[in-house]
Amino acid sequence: MKAQILLLVLISLTACSSGGAGNSATASSTTVSASSSSLSSEEQTIETLYPPLPYIDATSLKSLADFPIGLEVQVADDIRSIFTVTEQQDLIERHFSELVAGQHMKAPFLHPEEDIFYFEDADALVDYALANNIAMHGHTLIWYFHEGQTVMPDWMLNYDGDWDAMIENHITEIVSHFEGRVRSWDVVNEAVQTVRDTNGNIVAAEYRDTPFYQNLGEDYIENAFIYAHAADPNATLYYNDWALSHNDSKLDFTLQMISDLLAKGVPVHGIGFQMHAWIDHPSKEDIQEAFTKAAATGLQIKITELDVRTAQPYYSGGAVTTQFSAALKLQQKDRYKEIVQAYLEAVTPSQRGGITVWGLIDGESWVNNAHTDWPLLFYNDLTVKPSFYGLVEALTEQ
Ligand code: XIL
Repeated sequence: MKAQILLLVLISLTACSSGGAGNSATASSTTVSASSSSLSSEEQTIETLYPPLPYIDATSLKSLADFPIGLEVQVADDIRSIFTVTEQQDLIERHFSELVAGQHMKAPFLHPEEDIFYFEDADALVDYALANNIAMHGHTLIWYFHEGQTVMPDWMLNYDGDWDAMIENHITEIVSHFEGRVRSWDVVNEAVQTVRDTNGNIVAAEYRDTPFYQNLGEDYIENAFIYAHAADPNATLYYNDWALSHNDSKLDFTLQMISDLLAKGVPVHGIGFQMHAWIDHPSKEDIQEAFTKAAATGLQIKITELDVRTAQPYYSGGAVTTQFSAALKLQQKDRYKEIVQAYLEAVTPSQRGGITVWGLIDGESWVNNAHTDWPLLFYNDLTVKPSFYGLVEALTEQ
């Protein structure tokens, strides 16, 4: 650990003294080897091949793609706000072409009371993005209650009036407010759930039992898209969900739902794969097949919330790793690479809605819950991880 800190300090110092703004994904190997004598040979190899460069010296991610490279960020009084930790802004402007709010464009923030809409914090983000030539993706208009977290405001959860009129007003006010400034929206988030047998195997999928579903049946989904489209006819409208890349009944149900909506003329324009992946699950084959099936709809396909959790592999039997070892770094780099490769192989350029990473630095990821994890592209000191190189390699077809 000490050696790694020393290494990072030396690299930063070297970068500063050389003026910083290079555009290379490969570091001077002398910098790395000179400072890495106390690292294990495995770690030395990783750090030589994939040096933890300051973000300013790493290849600009967005320059490598013809589609948006997005990032989830925090604003306002969140401890991770990009307006507090302003160095993050430089990083964002160098590497990302789209932003999405992790929190501040969800219903509890934008619509805290039935008669109150609050746009100040979200507007600050949208203004910042547009001023820097970065597009905005809106997340999310209709979402249920998520793992004990407030993703529906209390007033909405307990609403006892006309639910259809209520969601129409909710969507219309929000989408109109951002019309022309927010380019795309996750209109409905996570409306499908799997059904498991007594052994825990997934045997089917169905509409998720949310307050929206309880009050309006499945019609709330099509109505949400219709209201959003009416409020901003130019916005690209996504259905967004997790575990679609598992290529199981949930994907099949979702794609059936989407083709039914399209057959009725409902304005759905894209499918968002959240892609909160494990280091070892789902397989590249399943991910690629899932993208291929989704792309057959002809819609935009977007990776909306990419991260790769690493501390607790899917097939670890519950065991948690507490060390982000060299082997794990390499595995995560390959994993990022194969996910992006699967996307590029399955989705034709005109259907690529983009790839968004769900957070900037490991220490700020939502994945750090029960235990520490390292799911993202940047270390906490804003240097690049091997995973960053995985993305670079896939985007440059190395
Ligand atoms: C998460 C955010 O990252 C957290 O900061 C927040 O506390 C809860 O929501 N699926 C989604 C995202 O669509 O909105 C969630 O984001 C992660 C799962």
